Amino acid sequence: MAKIIAVTGKGGTGKTATTSLLIRQLTKGDKVVLAVDADPDTNLPETLGCDTTKTIGDIKEYMHEERDNLPPDINKESILEGKLYEILEEMPGYDLLVMGRPEGSGCYCYVNNLLRGIMNKLVTNYDVLIIDAEAGLEHFSRKIFRNVDDLVVVTDGSRRGLRTAERIRELVNELETDVSNIYVIANKVTDANRERISSTAEELGLELIGMIPVDEMIVERDLAGEPLFDLPDDSVAVQEVEKIAQKLGL
Ligand SMILES: Nc1ncnc2c1ncn2[C@@H]1O[C@H](COP(=O)(O)OP(=O)(O)OP(=O)(O)O)[C@@H](O)[C@H]1O
Ligand SMILES: [Mg+2]
Repeated sequence: MAKIIAVTGKGGTGKTATTSLLIRQLTKGDKVVLAVDADPDTNLPETLGCDTTKTIGDIKEYMHEERDNLPPDINKESILEGKLYEILEEMPGYDLLVMGRPEGSGCYCYVNNLLRGIMNKLVTNYDVLIIDAEAGLEHFSRKIFRNVDDLVVVTDGSRRGLRTAERIRELVNELETDVSNIYVIANKVTDANRERISSTAEELGLELIGMIPVDEMIVERDLAGEPLFDLPDDSVAVQEVEKIAQKLGL
């Protein structure tokens, strides 16, 4: 059974950057990895340097539209499963699946239900599933994944950011998804706020597993529209993520 890691946090804190660097780290090992972009506002493929445009949202749309046209004796689940494998992107060292969002505003409960079963089956093919989740934990309420081993909350160094992490911890108790561990990563850390972040995290009882510094290489790549996946080993963010990956048992 795969270890499931979901990366969440407030908007713009660095969820996608952190996820892509964790994936980069994972490709150095021999684990079979599935990366999932679960943010409807798709960003992970670009950060990884993958130009896929196919999403689960498109499949949902297709199934939704064709629902009444498909012959009754045909197994809908196997159609959906086949379509899912069609959009599964095989990248060097990992597979990538992009959730996206369906175009329409209809009710996709029927497809979501089918999808849930297939995803939970698909997961058994992998050692690690890493999810770039959206800010609001919405997909957890849709319960695509029955359980999450590690929920990683990315926060900026501000007290408010850490409070968000605290709130997410409270929210998790209300979810139907089982979460085994909640960890916090502070991102864009500077020498000026480093000390305060760790003392505030301690005060709030948050398990801080890493502090990723502001990384000029990330800033440059962001401006140039280049992926973070191939950042060099001497990037300060890469070095910190390497330690974080160890703490996560990757
Ligand atoms: N350690 C870092 N050093 C410098 N810049 C960073 C760092 N981490 C992230 N950034 C920059 O911060 C911005 C937001 O990062 P990112 O897109 O990863 O956040 P996010 O939480 O995924 O955002 P969203 O909520 O929109 O999905 C990007 O411009 C990214 O390049
Ligand atoms: Mg993002």
